[in-house]
Amino acid sequence: MAKQLWFSCVQEHACRRALLWLGRQSRPAAFGSDGGELDYYFIDGPEPKAVVKRYAELTGLTPLPPVWSLGFQQCRYSYYPQARVEEVARTFRNKNIPADVLYLDIDYQKNNRPFSVDRERFPAFDRLVENLGALGFKVIAITDLHVAKLPEAGYEPYDQGIAGDHFVRNPDGSVYVGEVWPGASVFPDFTWAPARKWWGTLYAKFVAIGIAGFWNDMNEPAIFGTPTKTMPLDTVHRVDSGGTAVHREVHNVFGMQNSRATYEGLLELQPNRRPLVLTRATFSGGQRYAASWTGDNSSTWNHYRMSVPTLLSLGISGYPLVGDDIGGFVGSPSPELLTRWIELGAFNPIFRDHTNKGTLDQEPWVHGEEHLAIRRRYIETRYKLLPYLYTQIEETSRTGVPLMRPLWLDYPDAEDFYQNDRIFLFGPDLLIEPKMDETLDAMSLVVPAGIWYDYWTGERRTGPSQAKIQPALGELPILVRGGAIVPHQPLVQSTSEVPRGPLELRVYPAPDCRSSLYVDDGISFGYQKGEFVRLAFTCAEEPASIVVKMAPAEGSYVPWFNSLRVVVHAVSVRPKQVRIDGRPLAFQYDSSHKAVSMTFSYLKSGFEVAIDR
Ligand code: GLC
Repeated sequence: MAKQLWFSCVQEHACRRALLWLGRQSRPAAFGSDGGELDYYFIDGPEPKAVVKRYAELTGLTPLPPVWSLGFQQCRYSYYPQARVEEVARTFRNKNIPADVLYLDIDYQKNNRPFSVDRERFPAFDRLVENLGALGFKVIAITDLHVAKLPEAGYEPYDQGIAGDHFVRNPDGSVYVGEVWPGASVFPDFTWAPARKWWGTLYAKFVAIGIAGFWNDMNEPAIFGTPTKTMPLDTVHRVDSGGTAVHREVHNVFGMQNSRATYEGLLELQPNRRPLVLTRATFSGGQRYAASWTGDNSSTWNHYRMSVPTLLSLGISGYPLVGDDIGGFVGSPSPELLTRWIELGAFNPIFRDHTNKGTLDQEPWVHGEEHLAIRRRYIETRYKLLPYLYTQIEETSRTGVPLMRPLWLDYPDAEDFYQNDRIFLFGPDLLIEPKMDETLDAMSLVVPAGIWYDYWTGERRTGPSQAKIQPALGELPILVRGGAIVPHQPLVQSTSEVPRGPLELRVYPAPDCRSSLYVDDGISFGYQKGEFVRLAFTCAEEPASIVVKMAPAEGSYVPWFNSLRVVVHAVSVRPKQVRIDGRPLAFQYDSSHKAVSMTFSYLKSGFEVAIDR
């Protein structure tokens, strides 16, 4: 079925290995596809990052997502009735657990019919969206692609689709009918532009009441009761190039075209809002339209462990905006597993807790105060790091380099790490080293070559080295790249709250010390017209001082902060003085953490702070 085989290798010997591997796996050494010829693309980096970037140039970039999609997201199959959804939202706020998104899974709909609302369970649907908005929550509603086959029942998606001839057909010309959540269902012909355009219009009513994002599930397409679990391969689709193709030829792009129809429809409805679509099925290039997740995992340590290599693979395969069901979908996690999973998920691009129907509750508070305190602390860390996260995802939207990535993407010479699928970079500056099992056994804390810092204590380390450690339940080891300047913001309970206080810049001195910060309104396309601000920072260790600088700001956007707090690590003795642009500046010195800090006004013209030893 695959029409294209993407194959990239990052080093000559790796290329040779991969070719041998392909030959070995399929005897005789041949592979092909059911639905036509394969196109082969060889991308010769030679550096891994160049491969990823060039792949993105070929297949497309992930557009800059709305900032709220980077907050904590809570889902379950399904929250209902309406009062339960509000209760969950209020509990987040009462317990001071930051969160941005609540999901409505299929049970908000009347008999699982997409684009309908069950008015018994949700008597005031519009008011619910409004109330959640007032609590700082965005709603993402599921809208699966199957349209219930309901003639003469006043169900618009079916009536309009039939009238406009938008559904996939059988070889004999009749409309194809398959069984999914609503029962007998029909399927829009997403490979055909008129059907996509029509599909997009179905969102108008939901968008009008303020639903912020949409979830396209089951779009492989999943069909119940067939041997293949999908459509018969001879169903007939119309295609944009004219004429028709059978399902065998278009199966792999079908889900992507569904999310494309949603994305483009939302853009049409709200041209100055960044759409957020979550899709289960997609294809090479689907990153242009939707975020994705790894599907129905289980609440097991094994699936928790597998989340890292799976998300890393997606990232280097050009699909960066991804997450998994935190806590696991099938079954219920032990308290320890959910706690570890939330710690890890705080460093996944999409951070979403989700579980199946019939499982125990899985919100962060369900296992008592001790677990909640740890989970809250990690969710809070995620929110404090939002300026960093957003800066990195903005870079992803320009280059295709994923936020969550293997260490070797940035350090191609670090051969030892090519086999390591446990530790990963979150942006260029944070190295995450999770504990992957429930045992009390020690794990290795790996310090790669060069200077690194402990994120939690600020302690400086020099690698390469390895140490055996036993991180307690609340401890996720994180190293910061020496030479990083990591921006943090004051804690908020959601991204709809404006942070109050200074932007904090944590400086980790080492050679090649630099970073940037990108800020915009987080929601519109104004940034494409220059409504953003980009700041560039550097630091240098000079004989008599450490100098931290900001160059004049680029862009016209006025950021939320008007003061800056600079914290410089690894200052082993109390400085003689600190100067800003040559004038003395008050500072604090924390001898136990060897950190010096100072706060001053933000001016877009920049600054130069010197810490004189
Ligand atoms: C599928 C999805 C899951 C969702 C469920 C009900 O199993 O993968 O995330 O909750 O359908 O919509």
